Amino acid sequence: MKLLITGAAGQLGTDLVLSARLAGHEVVACSHHDLEITNANDVHRVVDKASPETIIHAAAWTAVDACESDPKKAMAINRDGTSNIVRAAQAVGARVLYISTDYVFDGTKTDPYIETDLPNPQSVYGASKLAGERELELASDLASDLASDLTGNMIVRTSWVCGEYGANMVKTILRLAATNSTLTFVDDQIGCPTFTSDAAPMIVQLATSNHRGIWHVTNQGATSWFGFARDVLTAAGLDPNRVVATTTKLLTPSRPAKRPANSVLANEEIRRANLPLLDDYHIPLQRLVDRLTS
Ligand SMILES: NC(=O)c1ccc[n+]([C@@H]2O[C@H](COP(=O)([O-])OP(=O)(O)OC[C@H]3O[C@@H](n4cnc5c(N)ncnc54)[C@H](OP(=O)(O)O)[C@@H]3O)[C@@H](O)[C@H]2O)c1
Repeated sequence: MKLLITGAAGQLGTDLVLSARLAGHEVVACSHHDLEITNANDVHRVVDKASPETIIHAAAWTAVDACESDPKKAMAINRDGTSNIVRAAQAVGARVLYISTDYVFDGTKTDPYIETDLPNPQSVYGASKLAGERELELASDLASDLASDLTGNMIVRTSWVCGEYGANMVKTILRLAATNSTLTFVDDQIGCPTFTSDAAPMIVQLATSNHRGIWHVTNQGATSWFGFARDVLTAAGLDPNRVVATTTKLLTPSRPAKRPANSVLANEEIRRANLPLLDDYHIPLQRLVDRLTS
């Protein structure tokens, strides 16, 4: 298939391009340098020229705390940029797979979030990504109502993304561990660390399938940032007891954007479709730490 991938030089985008090419697809890889998604003319020109069958839209303004102080920019990129992508796709008959986030949820649910749960973002970033979801114009936000969805568009929500390319928490934790005797992380925010090496091939598979609607795609296993920092140190052969637990309330300075306390995503649609779940996150974590430290 012919795929156009936005955000192609980003953390996830880089592995999406590699995975799609590995799977034998023709890929038009659009980095920010190649394509400014807030420029509708630019988007129409690039999409029209490429004429893809599917667009995997991974470009976004992902600086969660910075979004908080510039909602206009967050909406311009994450909502209006997505609208431009969707309109341009419609014009060439392409479908769109939009990458979204666990931060669309408010985190008050005690169980993992399923695809049909009601979003209620608590941050500007989360609100702008949800506004992007709405641009997909799925007939319903409910994944169960797929029969009436004629767009073929798809939303894939993922969480706590880490990969070899770009900045992420694994790299931050390793860097902090190299210079500090103790590291402090919150133990009251729970999520599913997800590795681009595992998520990208699944997203490419979904993008080139007949599936549609909202999907949650994460590695299996949930932990807190405290637990994750311990896992990273263990994977690097360091003493996990150097990690000290704190709470969101006690963090100094406090973070501008509110994070969901629980953003664990249940992968119900993957189960329903009988597709293989991604591995437990410890497996790709070990692989990544080995690569970063060798
Ligand atoms: N990171 C996470 O933990 C996480 C969790 C859940 C969902 N997601 C979603 O996953 C997707 C990929 O995230 P990521 O972690 O790979 O983030 P990333 O590394 O920041 O990649 C996003 C890419 O989008 C590009 N971009 C930003 N503004 C743009 C614009 N106006 N026009 C065109 N391109 C633009 C960025 O380019 P520049 O850097 O050059 O601006 C960057 O290369 C995003 O949709 C994000 O919302 C991420």
